[in-house]
Amino acid sequence: MDKILVQGGRKLKGEVRVSGSKNAALPILASALLCDGANTYTNVPMLRDIKSTLELLSHLGVRCEKQEHAVQVDASTLNNHDAPYDLVRKMRASILVLGPLLARLKKARVSLPGGCAIGARPINLHLKGLVSLGADIKLDHGYVEASCDRLKGADIYFDMVTVTGTENLMMAAVLAEGRTVLHNAAREPEIVALANALNQMGANITGAGTSEISIEGVESLKPIALDIIPDRIETGTIMTAAALTNGDVTILGAQPEHVQSIIDKLRLAGAQIDIYNDETIRIQGREIIKSVDLKTLPYPGFPTDMQAQFMVLMSVAKGSCLISETIFENRFIHVSELRRMGADITVSGNVALIKGVSTLSGAPVMATDLRASACLVLAGLVAENTTEVNRVYHLDRGYESLELKLESLGAAIQRVKG
Ligand code: EPU
Repeated sequence: MDKILVQGGRKLKGEVRVSGSKNAALPILASALLCDGANTYTNVPMLRDIKSTLELLSHLGVRCEKQEHAVQVDASTLNNHDAPYDLVRKMRASILVLGPLLARLKKARVSLPGGCAIGARPINLHLKGLVSLGADIKLDHGYVEASCDRLKGADIYFDMVTVTGTENLMMAAVLAEGRTVLHNAAREPEIVALANALNQMGANITGAGTSEISIEGVESLKPIALDIIPDRIETGTIMTAAALTNGDVTILGAQPEHVQSIIDKLRLAGAQIDIYNDETIRIQGREIIKSVDLKTLPYPGFPTDMQAQFMVLMSVAKGSCLISETIFENRFIHVSELRRMGADITVSGNVALIKGVSTLSGAPVMATDLRASACLVLAGLVAENTTEVNRVYHLDRGYESLELKLESLGAAIQRVKG
């Protein structure tokens, strides 16, 4: 397995372009199941999770072609409604085929994704919503077996905010008969990106980006050409790396309005951030990083997907702070590895107390979650000596060539093939 070696102590400087958003691309690729004809997507990040999605779509009979960052997906040949365990277990977001398969084929058999390193992550709200739309759902031998006549619009109330749950229901409802209203819907930019894609295909969705989304069902959809929005978590990760190393980095191709909560916290931590235009952000670090309390929340709150990276910054800040994780029950798996690097962090329930230390020390580390792996790479950037980040497999699920981007900014970082 590959590993990444980071020699700490270099300030990041220069310009870097962010990739397309993983969490926007995944549901949009699944939405191609909803129509006949070739959909063309550009600015698709080249990641393991994208590869896994294309493998799953191919398994369903869909024609997928990939050229660099452009992907063509044509579901005219869709002939299978079965998403097997072997494909779903690689990536939880595979559950995103459930809504479109039901809408299109009136049946779906999808392996239950199961928990993962960061929490139990049930899909009860996806299933409850589909039942409200008229689906018959059984759980059998680890599989969701769903069938329906044409789905019928309904009012759906989410007990908690769920991103992929909102996306699944939106995709199921676009071809349903009549009107569906999703109450307490997720408001993430990825939801808006999916709604825009579906509307371009001919759907009638209003309210995406608010907590009430209304979907007027249509008879059929048509294929589209679409550019994937920039990745706000990659943007936030690089901004944090710049602040951490007291660097001066300009990020190109970003969407500043999607990272406002991250910018706000980084400014409070002392960084200077200038937004030059719709897609350019400059971040300049400061010698002294200030401690800032933080609580993860659904959008537009601070994203859970940035919590681990921000914790590294706080580990070397002046003073103490509290970080509360409110989205996932077990998203502090990076803490024990950061402690091994000399961080002073105490966890009690879903709250971490971080007392800033003057320096971290390089060590061999590993993590079992994507964002935790990114946090360890960032820790390596400021640690003394060499940090060896193992199980880079997780990083490759969600960051496109992070080490090359950091290297282009002056980091002493390299991947060792294994
Ligand atoms: N939840 C339920 N029941 C459900 C659905 C969710 O109890 O039916 C709970 C979850 O267990 C969790 C909370 O609701 O405690 C929120 O989970 P959500 O459903 O919003 O998460 P998700 O849709 O599975 C997406 C992203 C995650 C990101 C979360 C939160 C994708 C493909 N994944 O997951 O991204 O952390 O929203 O913003 O969009 C990542 O990229 O590293 C990642 C984990």
